Parts: sequence; structure tokens; C-alpha cells
Amino acid sequence: MVVEIESLSSGGDGVARLPDGRVVFVEGGVPGDRVSLELVLERKRFVRARIETVLDPGPGRIEARCPHFGTCGGCLWQHVSYDVQLEAKRRAVIDALERIGGVSVAGELQIVPSPSPYAYRGRARFVECEGGVGYRVRGGEGARAVEVCPVLVPSAERALAERGERVREAGNAPTRRTREWVVTTGSDGTSIVTPAGARKKARGDATTASSVLVEVAGASLRVSGESFVQGNLLLWDTLVEAVLEACLVGGRGPGTRFVELHAGVGFFTVPLARAGLFGVAIESASSALADLRENLAQSEVHRSVEVVAGRAEARRDLARRFAGADLALVDPPRTGLEKPVRSALAESGPPRLVYLSCDPGTLARDLADLTSAGYALTTACAFDLFPQTPHVETLVTLERDPDPR
Ligand SMILES: C[S@@+](CC[C@H](N)C(=O)[O-])C[C@H]1O[C@@H](n2cnc3c(N)ncnc32)[C@H](O)[C@@H]1O
Repeated sequence: MVVEIESLSSGGDGVARLPDGRVVFVEGGVPGDRVSLELVLERKRFVRARIETVLDPGPGRIEARCPHFGTCGGCLWQHVSYDVQLEAKRRAVIDALERIGGVSVAGELQIVPSPSPYAYRGRARFVECEGGVGYRVRGGEGARAVEVCPVLVPSAERALAERGERVREAGNAPTRRTREWVVTTGSDGTSIVTPAGARKKARGDATTASSVLVEVAGASLRVSGESFVQGNLLLWDTLVEAVLEACLVGGRGPGTRFVELHAGVGFFTVPLARAGLFGVAIESASSALADLRENLAQSEVHRSVEVVAGRAEARRDLARRFAGADLALVDPPRTGLEKPVRSALAESGPPRLVYLSCDPGTLARDLADLTSAGYALTTACAFDLFPQTPHVETLVTLERDPDPR
């Protein structure tokens, strides 16, 4: 069966139509490719397929840079030119907002590219496996060792090679439970490697330093190995500036009261407090909370922000806190806002809401609820934090009349 690939799906596959009208998701397909297919899965309304032969390559098909491309689960799009990747992500955001969220973006949705489509990533998770450390295998079980990873910044890539060397020297015990490591890179290019998740016992093997310094918008932030930090080091300043601008629009400035959920180490909290705003920052992870408190104190803005520990959706006082604020800032994980958070925003959310999302699907689901509660989408912009992958970050602002009666 021969088809022409029309677009890229939000999951990374090429998308085409079969003669019977069904959509076919083609692994590795690039828009404009004419390919013959090998079917993998058939359903009533869609089909999954692999490429048997690329008969005519599309204009965006390029050579992948990494020798591990194809088996490594990290990058799905190294064979797609960067301009085609950006357009696919822009379309994915627009489609999700329109189809799932029922909202449309006024004007052209802009996507901010990564300053470099390689050597941008300061944070990654390595999995111990036979032959060293690597990443999960694409679409399969287990992990495969890698020696290079061109999306990492140079010091993180060196850390990957060194960790692999240490694992090989120690010898892999086949019965040992999989161990994972996280590399975190600071603004000075120093990378630290710390054990991931609960396996803290491995700390003895970690690099001596357990935190790095991240300099953004004039603030200096401590980030411990266990705390979240935005993955694309080259877009740190751009992201903070965009979030600050979104929060401060309409003459908001010193004295503005905010409620921030998912505050992390204070990546946005500290710059907001330094701009004269005051408010509440809610965060659930203990490591991020310790960094957040330290970062607020170091910047001498700890009196401006009340730090609240725990899961946002579990707080009974959330609606009351929203009611007393001018502005809410949320930056949830991929799962989006929990139902109780959406309900509290619907009940007594502040006039302005700034939402940073790493998943257009859950963002759109949440926007459907929020617009039903009277919020209107005022701006939207996408950021390409993860070139060579289908992931896309979206920043939206919403407003509603503080007193509709
Ligand atoms: C996408 S990160 C953003 C962190 C921070 N805004 C930044 O830019 O660095 C999400 C953060 O939310 C925290 N988090 C996850 N689930 C949460 C919840 N239910 N309530 C509060 N915080 C949560 C995570 O620990 C993490 O620090």
C-alpha cells in the first residue's frame, strides 16, 4: 500500500489517509514522503503502520545526526528538518486548543524556537543497562547504552560518558534492579549527576556537589539534583521573561498579589517577588521546597512570598486563596490541573490566570473547563523546549471580569 504523508501527529508519527478514508499513523513518516507501508495494527477508524520503503522523500526529510537514532526512545524527529518540526508543534497546539478546548487563538500562534536544535538540554535521566548507561528503547522494553547524546549540552554529555564508564568498571550485576541517574546542569556549565527517585542510597556514587546554580532574570537559584528545572538551558531567560510579561501585563506591578501553584525551586517565584509582587507559592516536592525557601531567602524576598508545602489539589483553602489574589500562575506536570484545582479556579479564581503547560492535550481539557467558568483566552504562545521530539510547551493567559454582576 502506498500513501503520501500529510502531516505529523502530536505523538510524532507521520499521518496519511488510506484509500478507504481511514487515518494511518506511520512511524518515521515525514510530510511529503511517498512511502509503501507495512501495517502494524488495524482498527475500525485508524491504522498504525511502518515504512517499508521511502519511494520519494518529502522536502523535510534529513539525515539523523545521532548514531542511536531509531532505537533510542529519546528523540523521534531527528530525521525531520527543524522548520518542519516547529510547524508541526505549532499546529499541534492550535489543533488541541480548538478540538479539545473549544477555544481559538486570535491571530497567528507564534512558536519560539530553541536557539540551537542540538546541545540545548541540561537535564536528563540516564538508565543503567548492559554496557553502561542510556535511555529507554523506542517503543519497547528496557534500555540501551549510549555513548553520545547530541541534544545534551557538552558537560551533560560528558557526564553521560563518565557515568557509563563507572557503570562498566563496576560491572553490571544482571539481577540488580534498574538504577537511574539524573544529570542537572547549572548556568556556569557545571553538570552534576545524582540518583533518581527513591534510590538515594546510591548517593555515595553521585558527584560531590548535590546542587547547581541557575542564573535567570537577575536571580541566582539553587537547584538540587532531585528538584525540577526546565530542561532547555538555552531558553531559560526567554521563558522567565515571557511568564513575567504575562503576569505583569495591564499595568500590574509592585503590590500585585499572586497565587502560584507548582512553584518548583522558584524559577518564576523569585523573579516575580524581585519585581515587587507578593503572594503564595505552593509546591509538593520536598527537595524543590527546600530550594525554593533558600532561593527566596538568598534574594531577600522571603517576606514577600508565603511558601506552602503539599499538593495543590489537597488544599481546602485554595478557593479562598484565589479569591484574595489578582493573579494565578500555574505550571503543572503533564497531567494538567487536577479537578479540585479547576473547580477552585472556576469558583473564585482571580481576574488573571497565567498557565504554562507541557502538554497541549491536558491544557486544552483544562481550558474547556475554565472558559465555561467565564475565563477568556487572551494570549497564547508556544516554546520549543525540546527540539528533535514532539514535545511542546505552551504559555496562555486568561482573563475574566472580577465582578460579573
Ligand atoms: C513542570 S514543574 C514546574 C516547576 C517550576 N514552575 C519551574 O518552572 O521550574 C512542576 C512542579 O510541580 C510540582 N508538583 C507536581 N504535582 C504537584 C501538585 N499536585 N501540587 C503542587 N505541586 C506539584 C513538581 O514537584 C514540580 O516542581
